[in-house]
Amino acid sequence: MDDFLRKLPKCEHHIHLEGALTPELLFKLAKKNHVQLPPTDPAFANPETLKARYKAFTCLDDFLAYYYVGMSALLDATDFEALAWDYFQHAAADGVAHAECFFDPQAHISRGVTYDIVLQGFEAARQRAQAELGISSELICCFLRHLPPSDCLDTIRNPAVQASMTAGQVIGIGLDSSEKDFPPQLFTEVYDEARALGQNLTAHAGEEGPPSYISSALDDLKVSRIDHGIRLIEDSALLKQIADQGTLLTLCPLSNVYLKCVTSVSELPIRAFLNAGVRFSINSDDPAYFGDNYLLDNYLAVQEAFQLTAQEWVGICEAGIKGSWCAEERKEELL
Ligand code: ADE
Ligand code: ZN
Repeated sequence: MDDFLRKLPKCEHHIHLEGALTPELLFKLAKKNHVQLPPTDPAFANPETLKARYKAFTCLDDFLAYYYVGMSALLDATDFEALAWDYFQHAAADGVAHAECFFDPQAHISRGVTYDIVLQGFEAARQRAQAELGISSELICCFLRHLPPSDCLDTIRNPAVQASMTAGQVIGIGLDSSEKDFPPQLFTEVYDEARALGQNLTAHAGEEGPPSYISSALDDLKVSRIDHGIRLIEDSALLKQIADQGTLLTLCPLSNVYLKCVTSVSELPIRAFLNAGVRFSINSDDPAYFGDNYLLDNYLAVQEAFQLTAQEWVGICEAGIKGSWCAEERKEELL
């Protein structure tokens, strides 16, 4: 089964490129760029102490504090290229055929790194991944929900952001960062503007937040995918609605364990989702922060917990291809 899962052509829809920043690359870039890592936090003594700290995340916000410090080492286009290339190499080893990658422009723009620098680095890595590894990819621009909606609006109105969307370099938007107390409806205007630009729409909802955040993402933001959505299991009417609509959930099993949303993968409602006909894909979220577990590790963890049949895995991968936002011809190649 392990070999079968490795060879299955997989789509990844929920990978934050900044979440692929390994402690090794973080320390290397911090040294190159003369960025000082927090001197009062002993976790930043060396890559090994940092990895040990990552094993003890208590919740999403505890992780996010480290995630944002990590980003501070990314300054020029070659840094972003190295980061994304690192991810694509892991993806190739895991049998990823197509990846739709999140990135967080506000976290870079606020540090004086322009959107064009970020995009230039990611574009170079994406082109190399296509040419050398045969991996197709897309970019999804995420908005940080812990920031004021006005900051998100300024970002989507940034001419460089708009140009990337009209040129098709960025094909969708997402909503991420701290979830509790930041309901999707706060960002309705941002999503209205993205929709007018022809963007695909998704949002993190129901990771730590309640099922009402999933409803708000669907009704107020009009998303066609939900990132995580595990708390959907608490609302049977909403579960049926999502199954009937065919909305794709992008599940991240090992992330949920590392961030203490569940105590083990077996606690996730994967069997219930399959039984109810809820479509989902399996994803890695922030692999460098969650025990170096990339996509295949997540597939294997689900297999260990649920003993799915080969037919069930083929169905999961097909739902992922159909729920992808790439060109129809690429979907046909993958099916
Ligand atoms: N940003 C990176 N990973 C995230 C996650 N799992 N939830 C919310 N925001 C994130
Ligand atoms: Zn995520």
